[in-house]
Amino acid sequence: MDNDITYLTLRRKELTPYREHILQFMLNLTDERETLFTKEYSEQGYQIICKMLVDNIIFTVLAMFKGEIIGVNALTNIEKGILYQIFPTVSSFIVVSNNFQGRGIGTKLHREVIEILGKTWAFKVGAVIKNNSSMIKIHEKQGWTRVTEDDTLIYHYRPCRKEMNLLSPLFFVSYWLYIKTKIALEIAKSLFSRIRVKSNKLLRARVNTNHSYMSG
Ligand SMILES: CC(C)(COP(=O)(O)OP(=O)(O)OC[C@H]1O[C@@H](n2cnc3c(N)ncnc32)[C@H](O)[C@@H]1OP(=O)(O)O)[C@@H](O)C(=O)NCCC(=O)NCCS
Repeated sequence: MDNDITYLTLRRKELTPYREHILQFMLNLTDERETLFTKEYSEQGYQIICKMLVDNIIFTVLAMFKGEIIGVNALTNIEKGILYQIFPTVSSFIVVSNNFQGRGIGTKLHREVIEILGKTWAFKVGAVIKNNSSMIKIHEKQGWTRVTEDDTLIYHYRPCRKEMNLLSPLFFVSYWLYIKTKIALEIAKSLFSRIRVKSNKLLRARVNTNHSYMSG
């Protein structure tokens, strides 16, 4: 069966007839969704994010079995954070259908994309959910550097081109700062929203007390 698995590399111009198939493949995923994205989405949210990702694929390597897509590794250009504005930075999403996992397809898809990116002046970044041992293994075996982690995610990067190694220490520090700032902002956001809820409750309670005092 493994001999029947083929790999197809598609650049932007060749992608058009495949986008709908890739989207359908993504929408038909079940358990694979749990580690595919770093956030949990509602069904509607999942459909929206998949459509956006698929519409923004720059190039992809597909694993095919009997004419059906069974795995995708695709480079996208949807990230807009400051890190992406300062450094040439790319990211991709990778998924192999449940029935085909554990046979080296993820490793192969990952290697193919890294090879194509080998000529690019950019850093590839990726956040992996901590319990995603197969993805962590792939990253570790293919030379990614672990930058930091939070409660749920591990952040990695890898220079695409060997010459980018010179900039690696600077990128490491910048990526670290970027993640730490993001985490701090998220904590501050949730803290302020809790404070806002509490103060609104207090305000409402005070208004109600005043109101009952006046009407009494
Ligand atoms: C991550 C994913 C793409 C890996 O694809 P895959 O085809 O199963 O990967 P491989 O078969 O090449 O296995 C990669 C490594 O993980 C190991 N592995 C596979 N399944 C594993 C499991 N369930 N537990 C632990 N290790 C596992 C393999 O042995 C291999 O290690 P090795 O090279 O030392 O032998 C696939 O599991 C997947 O699609 N997951 C859901 C989506 C996802 O998490 N995407 C990544 C988001 S960052």
